[in-house]
Amino acid sequence: MMDKTVFLGRVLSFHRRPEGAGDAGAFTYVEDGAVLVQAGRIVALGEAREVRAQAGAAKVVDHRPHLILPGFIDTHLHFPQVQVLASWGRDLLDWLNSYTFPEEVRFADADHAARMAKGFYDGLTNHGTTTAVAYCSVHPESAEAFFAEGHARGMCMVGGKVMMDSHAPAALLDTPQQGYDESKALIEKWHGTGRMHYAVSPRFALTSSPAQLEAAGALVRENPTCFMQTHVDENVDEIARAKALYPEAQDYVGIYEDYGLLGERALLGHCIHLEPREVEALAATGSKPVFCPTSNLFLGSGLFDDAALRARGILSGIATDIGGGTSYSMLQTLNEGYKVLQLQRQQMHPFTAFDWITRGNAEVLGLTGEIGTLEAGTAADMVVLDAGATPEMRLRQERVETLAQELFLLMIMGDDRSVAQTYVAGVAQKGE
Ligand code: GUN
Ligand code: ZN
Repeated sequence: MMDKTVFLGRVLSFHRRPEGAGDAGAFTYVEDGAVLVQAGRIVALGEAREVRAQAGAAKVVDHRPHLILPGFIDTHLHFPQVQVLASWGRDLLDWLNSYTFPEEVRFADADHAARMAKGFYDGLTNHGTTTAVAYCSVHPESAEAFFAEGHARGMCMVGGKVMMDSHAPAALLDTPQQGYDESKALIEKWHGTGRMHYAVSPRFALTSSPAQLEAAGALVRENPTCFMQTHVDENVDEIARAKALYPEAQDYVGIYEDYGLLGERALLGHCIHLEPREVEALAATGSKPVFCPTSNLFLGSGLFDDAALRARGILSGIATDIGGGTSYSMLQTLNEGYKVLQLQRQQMHPFTAFDWITRGNAEVLGLTGEIGTLEAGTAADMVVLDAGATPEMRLRQERVETLAQELFLLMIMGDDRSVAQTYVAGVAQKGE
């Protein structure tokens, strides 16, 4: 019984995507709130007085006056790019060839991968992220390091070794058979182990031969509970190359469609320059685009058209895309995402924004029963947010009158300094 803990704070959890400023029915917000946690899972959420009465003799952790939310979810980033972040490059293909590919070569070394994994996971939890979907390098050693470290920390993580067999340095290439065999072995070892999920990860059409995309399609068919992740329609030169390599495909999305890679569990990074037929293919298959604003701005890739996809009933994720992305922070990702949408005369309300990085991204992954909310029965993955983390934020906070204003302040000015604590299955991750 004594492993019960009551967390006190202003508790916020979304039930569905808010329609806008006035949509208070989309979330639960308890000003004098509490979350009761036992054995790593949420038992109750509600008024502090009631939760404390229900808890009996429980440990109390007082986070008042801070906000308690579900931990953030990052639906696209690259584990072997922790030392690529902030590399000066002209555009996607130049940046990949000059910095990213040479750096990923280093992940053949298991010791290097293990050291980088510690920094990677510390980066996530320091910034309030408790679940992430990651690409590893082509080397099984990198995926081993990724899964072993995440599993040891008790985190819910999704990842996979990239499959790439062409148009990259030799030290980064597998073959169709090797990519298949290594992915299969990793699925058998890690998919469903603890809170780990596998994502079949053909990097993108430029670095996979038709035979390799065929092998990826076989893995997807044989492992229907695994995710599939790749990149599409990020950059105009990339699109031209993809079409030249696959002249029979209807369009870039059509390449993946032809090999059976689309579907409800397909996560497609970027989706910036989609043609109308490609949008229809995503809608018809239930595939999930992933918006990576800091990366799209950093690499000059283009503007993600969120409204057009929503209008077709397509659910999109939002993500950092480290190291094309420039921050581990999902708050800073919202900040840049807000501006990308502003440039297209689209608006991201703070309620919609915070739903997106919690419940919304969980829905994209089909994991709302496990993560993304503070509902009873889900994992106690939580973030504690302080909107007055810096002197400048405190000054601005003096003029904040509503929850929406406070959330907006957090997503525009906030970063890891605003993350007072991060809990994974009820266990604190940040040094006190
Ligand atoms: N397309 C293929 N690989 C990558 C990558 O590592 N980063 C980005 N941003 N786009 C890609
Ligand atoms: Zn990426």
